[in-house]
Amino acid sequence: MQKLLIKGKKNLAGSISISGSKNATLPILAASILAKDVNLTNVPLVKDIFTMIELLKFIGIKVKIFKKKKTIQLKNSNKKINTLAPYKLVKTMRAGVLVLGSLLTKYKKAKVSLPGGCAIGTRPVDIHLFALKKLGAKIKIKDGYIIAEAKQGLIGNKIRFPSISVGATENALIAACSAEGKTVLSNCAIEPEILDLITFLKKLGILIQISGRKIIINGKKSVKKKVNHKIIFDRIEAGTYLIAGALIGKKIIIRNVLSRVIKNEIKILKKIGAKITVKKNIITITKSKNMKKINVITKPYPGFPTDLQAQLMVLMTQTKGVSKIKENIFENRFMHVPELKRMGAKIEIQNKTARIFGPSKLTGAEVMATDLRASVSLVLAGLIADNRTIVNRIYHLDRGYEFLEKKLKKCNAVIKRI
Ligand code: EPZ
Repeated sequence: MQKLLIKGKKNLAGSISISGSKNATLPILAASILAKDVNLTNVPLVKDIFTMIELLKFIGIKVKIFKKKKTIQLKNSNKKINTLAPYKLVKTMRAGVLVLGSLLTKYKKAKVSLPGGCAIGTRPVDIHLFALKKLGAKIKIKDGYIIAEAKQGLIGNKIRFPSISVGATENALIAACSAEGKTVLSNCAIEPEILDLITFLKKLGILIQISGRKIIINGKKSVKKKVNHKIIFDRIEAGTYLIAGALIGKKIIIRNVLSRVIKNEIKILKKIGAKITVKKNIITITKSKNMKKINVITKPYPGFPTDLQAQLMVLMTQTKGVSKIKENIFENRFMHVPELKRMGAKIEIQNKTARIFGPSKLTGAEVMATDLRASVSLVLAGLIADNRTIVNRIYHLDRGYEFLEKKLKKCNAVIKRI
């Protein structure tokens, strides 16, 4: 099992180029089933993307990857399509459930493994199924599989999500593309990754309007055959490196971002005391001497993202006084806390709120990653801790961070994979 070895307290300076968004690429790959010929650029070559590609190949889509150009070409000749997403491919990558919407709307049936839970929570898909049933799908659960069909095709409908869900919004959005007539989705998630999916679907010729949390889709039986699309930047990766800069940056330059998309995160880091300048889409960040405490609650976009909660918590260990972060999205997303405490962080958890007493001196230790974002928070802690930190189980990291060591090494970090 690979590990990361980090020697702490090296001030970071240099420039970091942000990769394409994993969480935009996954639904767009699922939606590619609808077209004949798709060319995706700025794709992050991380583990979850390769798993989704395995799933699409299993279904019968031809996929070519051009690593150097970060490009994926997908061809759906509509021959020998297998409307099945097997357990072995969905269990490690829950976003596999996103093929449900595209298989149903194009082939009128789908058998998709129920995605298991994961370290951060049970991760049910009841809202996905609620929305697809509203579009006319007949759904039953058997032997751990979702068995869905719509013999007459899906029918557009008015659907109000009982609670905001990124994946359910994406599944319903894709399913509505070839449903008969108009679909009105309310109380939708409107993450930038969903807006990127909408841009992709519009290129297929689907008429989609969005206002606030309402999305209106006019279904079309036949969509454009050929689509070119550049994936939006990864705002969570950008936020992660901005926090690294706030922690120990002498001067870090972040490129390939859309600063307006992460303006709230930038505002919070400035409030804590980081020195940030934004010129067009180039962000420069330097750590501040004395960091001020802050209270944050994770919320659906445009609120503070749950995917940056673990990373922000590391920064909060260095703020003066008691900072608080409430995890409002997932039921168990504090798995990084025991590991940070072993490095000397002073953190107390009450219900879903962590109180972080700072500033506290962190000391390197051997720690264990439990999920994608928890693992990167341990790397951030290692960057500011005395001595050496060893992060175990970094396969979690490889699911969502492209060239992490390379990008940090380029900024003088002492980090290597062992
Ligand atoms: C997406 O997961 C992201 N994954 C997650 O990023 C991200 O943390 C999450 O959105 C929230 O922003 C991808 O985009 C591939 P949800 P998703 O449906 O769609 C509950 C990462 O680190 N819920 O918005 O699964 C759910 O349990 C990953 O890149 C239901 O109860 O998130 C959670 O508590 C981690 N029933 C809340 O809603 C459902 O049917 C939000 O989940 C669906 C969700």
